[in-house]
Amino acid sequence: MSVNKKIIILLGVPGSGKGTQARFLVDDWGMAHVSTGDLLRALEVDPNGDDNDKQKLADMKAGKLVADDLIYKLAFAEIERNLALGKSVVLDGAIRSVEQAQKYNEFFIAQGVNDSVLAIELTLSDDLSFKRLIKRKVCADCADIIPYAVDNETKTKCEKCGGKLITRGDDNPTTAQKRIEEQGNAKLQPIVAYYRAGGHLVSVDGSQPILDVDTQVKKILTD
Ligand code: AP5
Repeated sequence: MSVNKKIIILLGVPGSGKGTQARFLVDDWGMAHVSTGDLLRALEVDPNGDDNDKQKLADMKAGKLVADDLIYKLAFAEIERNLALGKSVVLDGAIRSVEQAQKYNEFFIAQGVNDSVLAIELTLSDDLSFKRLIKRKVCADCADIIPYAVDNETKTKCEKCGGKLITRGDDNPTTAQKRIEEQGNAKLQPIVAYYRAGGHLVSVDGSQPILDVDTQVKKILTD
């Protein structure tokens, strides 16, 4: 499938479905997925990871934003690598402040892709965000995100690969609440406004069923 943009930025509060939708674009269309959350969690368990960088992960565990310099270091290298392979790149959670949006824009200009950027906002209330986060389970083996269900705590095995289902360290109620304070709708709106002002923003109702969101996102990317 030929996507009409080189850079797709998924914006949304924690739990709005950025990772879920990014996976559809990767699995169905072969796009590259750059999730700063995944890059930070990989750094956490990397025995060769830089100790100074690892110290900055304390903020993630507390539900706060991680230092900008670490985000740029991890994300820009991955984006550049995938653009060099000729891929379109879906950014998942990679931009969490207007300052970051501006810095990424400079990077996109340097990469020659600034005319091919679209931000897709997955809208969701802070209340629904909290409900989804504290029920989320992911597979420890294939990293699949198990679809939200009220009885998720009873599920132990991944239906796709048989791997063990785990709860992310930051999906406990205390940290989830902190994440919503630090990264919820009040913090998201200035970023959304930045992309809207540049004419690069489309919003999709993230509270719809997962496959309906997928259909709308894909329509936007092929129109
Ligand atoms: P990150 O891992 O990116 O976490 P997040 O932004 O909080 O986003 P989530 O992964 O929690 O949610 P999501 O939107 O991907 O939703 P998902 O698809 O999983 O970041 C972790 C931390 O790293 C941050 O807190 C911060 O500390 C740090 N960090 C990362 N990037 C940074 C940056 N740029 N700057 C500074 N710090 C940064 O879905 C959630 C649940 O909902 C799942 O159970 C799913 O099945 C369900 N669901 C999804 N869509 C639907 C739907 N339509 N209907 C019903 N259920 C749905």
